[in-house]
Amino acid sequence: ATEETLVLVKPDGVARGLTGAILARIEAKGYSLVDIRLVEPDRGTLERHYAEHEGKPFYEPLLEFMMSGPSVAIRLAGNRVIEGFRSLAGTTDPTTAAPGTIRGDLGRDWGLKVQQNLVHGSDSPESAARELAIWFA
Ligand code: CMP
Repeated sequence: ATEETLVLVKPDGVARGLTGAILARIEAKGYSLVDIRLVEPDRGTLERHYAEHEGKPFYEPLLEFMMSGPSVAIRLAGNRVIEGFRSLAGTTDPTTAAPGTIRGDLGRDWGLKVQQNLVHGSDSPESAARELAIWFA
């Protein structure tokens, strides 16, 4: 059955003017944009979204980074889109993400406390449902 996922073009992607390039890759892969909006999340929204990372050394820098500028939130649909978008995005660390992926081709390490890796994609159907409810309330 068709599933949905939450994709975020994070503040680094928007600030670097890569929103269009990232959307082009998503569209070229064949997934469907169901909803899309420019968002400036408050701390409460980010605390809910990143609840699993609370207490980790990069948690505060991560929230600060995510409040540093607008993100683009996308409700994306397609068969196996959760798995497919994560494959398109590449692994978390942009330095070693495979070339051909969004992070591998467009990202790098900037020597900051939090990895700036351009995009987020839900990691499971449960996460997707939870995160879509947060960003598309
Ligand atoms: P993402 O996996 O979408 O959500 C958690 C984010 O925290 C991750 O992207 C990175 O931006 C950041 N992150 C994860 N692990 C680390 C780490 N070890 N050091 C710095 N930042 C991290």
